[in-house]
Amino acid sequence: MASWKHQVKNRFSEQATQWAACYADPEPTLSSQHLISRQRFALKMVEAAMPPSSRILEVGCGAGVMAAKLIKRGYAVWGIDLAEPMIRHARQLCESDPFGVGDIEHIPFPDNTFDVVVSLGVIEYLESDEQALREVWRVLRPGGRAVIAIPNGRSPLRRLDGVVPRVVAVLRPAYHLVKYRFRARPAPSSERFAGTVHHAPYRRFYRRRWLRLLRGLNFEPEEWICHGWGWLSSPLGFLVQSLSMKQAVFRRGIERLVGRALLSRASDTFVRSSALNWLAAEHIFRVRAIK
Ligand SMILES: C[S@@+](CC[C@H](N)C(=O)[O-])C[C@H]1O[C@@H](n2cnc3c(N)ncnc32)[C@H](O)[C@@H]1O
Repeated sequence: MASWKHQVKNRFSEQATQWAACYADPEPTLSSQHLISRQRFALKMVEAAMPPSSRILEVGCGAGVMAAKLIKRGYAVWGIDLAEPMIRHARQLCESDPFGVGDIEHIPFPDNTFDVVVSLGVIEYLESDEQALREVWRVLRPGGRAVIAIPNGRSPLRRLDGVVPRVVAVLRPAYHLVKYRFRARPAPSSERFAGTVHHAPYRRFYRRRWLRLLRGLNFEPEEWICHGWGWLSSPLGFLVQSLSMKQAVFRRGIERLVGRALLSRASDTFVRSSALNWLAAEHIFRVRAIK
């Protein structure tokens, strides 16, 4: 197995419990809300295309939260993930067995097995897209659907997330010199951000380029949205996270002013409009396998 994939597997294995816990958080942070709303949109896309009892494979199923929601809606669900601890969480949460360790680039199922393949926030951890997409296409039945979430390469938040660590790295030695060395104080550990799993290097996802790639691999695009304020992994994330703790208060204030229904209609318009949503952090596509 390539060393990059090993790193991804190890990092997600270490973070499995934390990953499961962020969905269970009664006061979800901005990042958790982003994950939860990604599932909500993906569920809508699945339900719009396939009736209950259809066979669904979730690749990169993580702790099984999306799989549990699909099972609850009556779908027959299987899940694979590279990280074994994630699979243990998924089995426990879904109280069912069809979860196993597996790689999206070598899906351990025969051709034409599933009606739907769901993959949320996985492809950005690969070194390239093609092999994974070919595998997704292979295991889908003719006319089967794939619902795939990937980051939005245009999102200024994502770009900032890449720039901030570099700026911090440049400024940190001078800051430490002034704050600790000159005063002969012990410097704190810089391990704080070490556990973050970053996307594969140099990968950016642009809608047009992706649509071209999908069509080239015999997928017909059916639906697309762009949503969310990001899964910020740099020190900027800590600032955004703490601000997001206050978000519930802002939201309740806005709801009181314009009403919940209007707000939800406005946010639906936002996620579907390419003129408005270029700021958002993530694309979700639903595509149909042409065979
Ligand atoms: C960002 S998490 C998303 C988990 C889940 N889809 C969710 O939305 O909560 C990415 C997941 O993809 C898994 N993963 C990464 N590379 C993979 C690969 N090549 N094959 C299968 N799973 C992979 C990781 O182990 C991790 O559980």
